[in-house]
Amino acid sequence: MTIHVSVPDNVHQNAIDILQGAAGIRVTAPGLMERADLLEAIVDADAIIIRSGVKADAELIAAAPRLKAIARAGVGVDNVDLAAATANGIVVMNTPGGNTISTAEHTFGLMIALSRHIARGHQSLLEGRWERKALGGVELKGKTLGLIGLGRIGQAIALRAQAFEMRVIAHDPYLPPAVAAEIDVPLLSLPEVYARADYLSLHALATEETRGMINADAIAAMKDGVRIINASRGALIVSGDLAAALQSGKVAGAALDVYEQEPPPADHPLIGLPNVLHTPHLAASTADAQVTVAVEAAELIVDYLLNGVAANVCNPGTQSKS
Ligand code: MLT
Repeated sequence: MTIHVSVPDNVHQNAIDILQGAAGIRVTAPGLMERADLLEAIVDADAIIIRSGVKADAELIAAAPRLKAIARAGVGVDNVDLAAATANGIVVMNTPGGNTISTAEHTFGLMIALSRHIARGHQSLLEGRWERKALGGVELKGKTLGLIGLGRIGQAIALRAQAFEMRVIAHDPYLPPAVAAEIDVPLLSLPEVYARADYLSLHALATEETRGMINADAIAAMKDGVRIINASRGALIVSGDLAAALQSGKVAGAALDVYEQEPPPADHPLIGLPNVLHTPHLAASTADAQVTVAVEAAELIVDYLLNGVAANVCNPGTQSKS
């Protein structure tokens, strides 16, 4: 029986080409589908490659009894039920480095666009207004950027912010202090970062520890007029609490690329506020990053299925299916 690899998400064609070029692998690449069609498409799949558009939950895993590997073309695996995968002998792998620069550049773009009202200026001009006074902004130079998470993406942002003459501080309980010292970023406690940051940018995974961390209490501990940027995971922010702080002026502005539910519902408390800038989870969506993560994901799958070699494993210790 041939090995079936299914790609039921929008993954770059280069990944499909790599899979098709591997001996003994049959590839189907239907792209994003309705849930019922998805469950049918993967019924005999040995492996799948996904981005964040597919929820690889217990139901999906049960629908694919032959599944041995899930490759996530991207970083976050919060759309994969790791416990269910492990229990079913499915190795989950990701491509953590491939979209670092794209995500860092998008985050930086959000920070500038928020500070200079670029989206509002564009929109108001299209609507026939010339609002130079109402849309005055602030400089980044001399401001303090607080990074929550100083992993690959946080570090790439720190370097860019330093080039813009910002002071950069960070909170990251997992990073060796020597790494932070090398790029001249002081590692501080969360309350210290909250108290000092003019801009706060989130770069943490959604875990038990981080879900809802930006809530009313955390915001109260922040500087008045702080600006918050989130291109990591929507679940980190309690949307209602941030909306209240944006309305009161405690938080001067927010730029959001990610939402707890994607796409967010029309009645989402942060949608429609004048001081919030939105993008639809675009941080990693560059031609460059999508090629890199897709190729890496395809290579991970080929290596695992044909050679039994697993890399970038997110659920280590999994007893793989024979
Ligand atoms: C990631 O986790 O890699 C990014 O959020 C991008 C994506 O979901 O594709």
